[in-house]
Amino acid sequence: ADEGEGGEESAHELRISKIHNGTVIDHIAGGHAPDVLAILGIDSATDEVVSIGMNVPSDRLGHKDVVKIEGRELSQDEVEVISLVAPAASINIIREYDVIEKNRVERPSTVEGVLSCPNRNCITTEDEPVATRFEVLDDGVRCLYCGTIIRRRLTDHIDV
Ligand code: CTP
Ligand code: ZN
Repeated sequence: ADEGEGGEESAHELRISKIHNGTVIDHIAGGHAPDVLAILGIDSATDEVVSIGMNVPSDRLGHKDVVKIEGRELSQDEVEVISLVAPAASINIIREYDVIEKNRVERPSTVEGVLSCPNRNCITTEDEPVATRFEVLDDGVRCLYCGTIIRRRLTDHIDV
């Protein structure tokens, strides 16, 4: 992972520092880094060490966004929801500066947790903690408990 040549970045083009340990979410479609950050619960109040590249040139995508988070590995639930807003993303796990694992996200048939149901009467929004589960549709997600469909702006429905 450190050949110096090849890949999408040469020494001249490196825009964001390499990270030591943590996760690089690469090949996010241009403009969607903020959606990925929202899914991960990273906002202006965060104290995590995060680097964000937006609309950086990419051989494969033309332009792409990149999010690098020092010292954090993502849960499977987080990766599955990220796949809905960034279907071409790759998740790179970094240890001691090396990419030790690289996975393309896959579109799941259901997602659990992370998103919240907008229906106030849904069992998942009552005091008893019931984790949310949504079926993934072509153009949104549907709550498996109450049938409510979220079609637009998924990231307005993050469970925090
Ligand atoms: N990266 C990083 N810190 C490291 C190692 C890698 O931030 N210590 C980043 C790279 O900048 C790149 C991504 O992690 O955005 C994947 O690294 P690598 O596999 O080395 O790059 P490519 O070969 O370009 O990856 P791909 O084939 O997935 O495009
Ligand atoms: Zn519901």
